[in-house]
Amino acid sequence: MYCTRKITDDITYIGGSDRKLSLFEAVYPVPAGVSYNSYLVMDEKTVLFDTVDNSIGELFFENLAHELGGKPLDYIVVQHMEPDHSATLRRLLVSHPETKILCSAKALAMIGQFFEAPAAERVQIIKEGDTLTTGRHTFSFVAAPMVHWPEVMMTYDTTDKILFTADAFGTFGALDGAVFADEVDFMRDYLDEARRYYCNIVGKYGTQVQAVLKKAAGLDIQMICPLHGFVWRRETDSIIAKYDLWSKYEAEEKGVLIAYTSVYGGTQAAAELAAAKLRDKGINVKMYDASMTHTSYIVAEAFRFSHIIFATTTYNNGIFIKMEELLHDLTAHNFSNKTVAIIENGTWAPVAGKLIRAMLEPCKNITILDEQLTIKSAMKPADEAALDAMIEKIAADFVKPVPQQHDTAVDNSALFKISYGLYVLTANENGRDNGCIINTAQLLTDNPRRITVAVNKKNLTHDMMMSTGKFNISVLTDKAPFQTYKDFGFVSGRDKEKIADAPIEFARSENGVVYLTENVNAFISGKVIDSKDYGSHTLFTAEVTEARIIGEGDSVTYDIYQKHIKPKPAPTKKKGFICTVCGFIYEGEELPPDYECPLCGHGAADFEPLA
Ligand code: FEO
Repeated sequence: MYCTRKITDDITYIGGSDRKLSLFEAVYPVPAGVSYNSYLVMDEKTVLFDTVDNSIGELFFENLAHELGGKPLDYIVVQHMEPDHSATLRRLLVSHPETKILCSAKALAMIGQFFEAPAAERVQIIKEGDTLTTGRHTFSFVAAPMVHWPEVMMTYDTTDKILFTADAFGTFGALDGAVFADEVDFMRDYLDEARRYYCNIVGKYGTQVQAVLKKAAGLDIQMICPLHGFVWRRETDSIIAKYDLWSKYEAEEKGVLIAYTSVYGGTQAAAELAAAKLRDKGINVKMYDASMTHTSYIVAEAFRFSHIIFATTTYNNGIFIKMEELLHDLTAHNFSNKTVAIIENGTWAPVAGKLIRAMLEPCKNITILDEQLTIKSAMKPADEAALDAMIEKIAADFVKPVPQQHDTAVDNSALFKISYGLYVLTANENGRDNGCIINTAQLLTDNPRRITVAVNKKNLTHDMMMSTGKFNISVLTDKAPFQTYKDFGFVSGRDKEKIADAPIEFARSENGVVYLTENVNAFISGKVIDSKDYGSHTLFTAEVTEARIIGEGDSVTYDIYQKHIKPKPAPTKKKGFICTVCGFIYEGEELPPDYECPLCGHGAADFEPLA
């Protein structure tokens, strides 16, 4: 039975998912399966974007026949010749002798290698900038060499602003009936597998991915159609931003990955102590036993975290084999831009540390700390000083908690700083801090002390509050510069480390969440006791667990912000609307009623016509 999904009125998803596959590319475990995507365009001429893996061949051909409904298939665009997308190409060419092949010259050579060379009259070689008009649609081809093979082309539908991206923006995992990323909670449920897919499949080719992202930046992209995983029809910027980070080898998260191997437990014990000491300092830690966890997961985590501790034994006068395998895989994927620390073990001649340093030596911008822990068989109290020195060195890169010296947890006068003002709302999950600007904090009841805050669901801070039930609000004063509003209000924590990278001081309150200490007169800690869904926002009700006066100055009001802090727009003759929150200008005669400011996320109600 066919199973297809409409992508647009005339483009249909005709791929499918495989949940029986154990190892993708005979290497990578895919416990949640994998999808092989194929897209059929039913225009005056019909066009197919790639075929599929043999494992779902029968479904694919049934889908194709159903959607064509007896019409000829005019074109097959072979964007990528790797067999997970082309294994069924030969059968397609036999069953559809009318179909012309559009592909790069390199892809044509590969067709000949995998199958046999097609008749010349059936082939049209495409290159960067070539176009194909099929009636309503005009497709423009974009070369994307080494994303993931050298023959790869992407295709831009200039009519509907859709980018068909071959392997790029894919993810491991079956689709479970969904086809759009907004049908699932992608960032919660699929981001880890998208990262693992990217880092292991395409991660080596960051330079080439950056080149394609630069081309993509010049396109109006309304939809992304990859060959694995979900179609992006909303918030395409969010996955593009992830690719930008990953392909620049920039850490997504401030935290420490500890990858260890341990034959008899001595190295693990040292790694566990390192983790505990880091946690004591409020630093997020993720640990993996490289003997037990497939390397592909650890490679992805190494892309994600800013700091990595490798802890391993010396084995056959070398590095323990599973750790050596991990390090080899990391260097093969251009492991870069990280801070690394080493714990080595060896019962008679520990050399693993020296060998790890040599393996990482060719990697770009890897800082290997001098503070190394060497143990012989098992860690002893005498070794602790070396471990502490390593931990201190790592912790120096993180926000430091400031010990609090207060008699009572709640200072009522701090609550009186709440006005119709602006606040930095902060939360913390899995050791990661984040914050955003809100203007919706209110004192609800005095006894018991309760406050409410309304938070846009798009904010990462919102998700952290939902998960942990803990937050702080820092009450901004009228001295807070516009840059503070930009740093916390105009970018998403999903795309940027806002706290760790912010040029501003923080401290940590008793609930473990950070608060600002500059241009702030008070902070208030809340423990969520209730939440109510109001569509775009969630209204949280919270008990006040801590409240402190921490600075001078008057609380900023929304009125002061509007009149004196937010920059005035430059005089313009353009027709359009200005966001009264951040100053973003929308050009056009009419503002769509569902428009959202791309800078600060406020809706059409917060826009006013340009003077
Ligand atoms: Fe999904 Fe490079 O193949």
